[in-house]
Amino acid sequence: MTAQEAVEHLSRLLKQTREQVPVPFTERDAERALAALLSTDNLWEAIRLSRVPLRALSTFWHRLIAEGLLEARDGALRLTANGQALAQALGVAPVREATCAHCEGRGVDWRTLPESVVERFMEICRHRPEAIQAYDQGFVTEATTLSRIAFAWHRGDLEGKTIIVLGDDDLMSIAAALTGAPARILAVDIDERLIQFINEVARREGLERLEAVRYDLREPLPSSWLRAFDTFMTDPTESFRGFKTTIERGLLALRGPGCAGYFGLTHVESSYEKWARIQRFLLDSGAVLTDLIDNFSAYVNWGYIESMRSWKWLPTHRLPERPWYYSALHRIELLRLPELDNTAVAGDIFSDEEAATT
Ligand SMILES: [Fe+2]
Repeated sequence: MTAQEAVEHLSRLLKQTREQVPVPFTERDAERALAALLSTDNLWEAIRLSRVPLRALSTFWHRLIAEGLLEARDGALRLTANGQALAQALGVAPVREATCAHCEGRGVDWRTLPESVVERFMEICRHRPEAIQAYDQGFVTEATTLSRIAFAWHRGDLEGKTIIVLGDDDLMSIAAALTGAPARILAVDIDERLIQFINEVARREGLERLEAVRYDLREPLPSSWLRAFDTFMTDPTESFRGFKTTIERGLLALRGPGCAGYFGLTHVESSYEKWARIQRFLLDSGAVLTDLIDNFSAYVNWGYIESMRSWKWLPTHRLPERPWYYSALHRIELLRLPELDNTAVAGDIFSDEEAATT
């Protein structure tokens, strides 16, 4: 196969994929997907390495299978000889992972936290509530939560600060409170189980500056929380509407310029087009993106994986054995007061075209 034939073949595959899914899918996405398939035959590893929305990626895989370029069997994906020839003619090479083994690519080391914080947090997590699908939950590993707190401490967003955590199935409020550094921490969540759990831990562990309150993000932010915090932390649902609503509440909770916010964003459920929309919204709201660390957050495999939306899109099925769903940590800082409405939003805030795990 000549390079020219390969390019033409790829552009046909791209065209067919785009006709089948209302999700952006670029030539570079296709190259990344092929590179991942040259690197692993594990379905979940291929998703992680592709960095492409799962809805578009699954459709692309089905196209490759239909053309005899890929085989899917027993949870494994293997490029056929023709598939490998196509990748080679396109000049696609396997992914060369160069992630630092010590910090797992985060650039911060949670082991720098006081030992008692780590031990107490790990112990508390043994009794945490299960993730449930109704609220699009799926919590991160303990190492991830501790790393987020280590990072925020390092960046001066923890010590002496007032912090609001919007949706806290990751238990960031507890890890933050255990450091003793923040002046006050408020965790808000729609899930009554989490509110009870956090308040119970606060009482039992003597964390007097920690409090959890039930709150539905679709409701306007209560006036006592407006411009009342130095730092917000959240891990939003990734429909654009749900995401924007969550971040707006966070920005409205901040006192003003110099205050910081933290959130995560994935590839599985968000295309670079969506990333761009989000970055534009942030800039328009008076915030600047100061840090972005991809694959910072690793999610513990949740119990409802076989009933998630994307399960039926997969060309072959096997339960994941290791984390496969990752998100990029974002830190923003306010440059000016945001001009945002604090109004109620109605209906489903969890779904959009790219949503995969709802
Ligand atoms: Fe490192």
